[in-house]
Amino acid sequence: LSYFLSSLVGGYLLGSLPFGIILTRLAGQGDLRKIGSGNIGATNVLRTGNKGLALATLLLDSGKGALAVLLAYLIFPKDPLLLYCAGGGAFFGHLYPLYLKFKGGKGVATFLGTLLAINWPLGLACCLTWALSAVLFRISSLSALIAAALSPFYSYFLLHNSSLAIFACILCSMIFIRHAENIKRLLAGTEPKIGKK
Ligand code: G3P
Repeated sequence: LSYFLSSLVGGYLLGSLPFGIILTRLAGQGDLRKIGSGNIGATNVLRTGNKGLALATLLLDSGKGALAVLLAYLIFPKDPLLLYCAGGGAFFGHLYPLYLKFKGGKGVATFLGTLLAINWPLGLACCLTWALSAVLFRISSLSALIAAALSPFYSYFLLHNSSLAIFACILCSMIFIRHAENIKRLLAGTEPKIGKK
């Protein structure tokens, strides 16, 4: 039980690091929560007009999910459940970060990083799905919702991994819940294209 708790808590503390907020503040762009959608993720950092900063946020927010899984893999016995705890903890940490009074982001980058580290073919399939949807629709939230929604299907039907499918299903549900405002805007046709305010 202590292994599960340690990977969950360790992942949560790592995932709680709000890189979007940290980087925009360091770059002198002010509080990211007062810009664009107010979200703390890379898509909103891009609305500051600084592409490098957005890319760094994307890499660090996904990297923290991957790192949590990797550390659990290196430190604890080789049990897939421990990897789910560490990755799930990091994802949960991004959504409800300790350092931001539990008001966090939507978890897309951390979701992708976590999946890449837990099962790279699934992570890659989701990244490609996101990228293809982004090319087609040019809307970040829609691409994220499509990639998240397909992740349990990829896990179950392509990789024949039911525990991974359940894990993906949980993360996908949380991504949908966190995108409630985006879904409303998508339905109303008012969701901005990538890079637009
Ligand atoms: O990664 C978050 C994205 O799906 C939506 O971000 O800022 O457009 O609400 P945003």
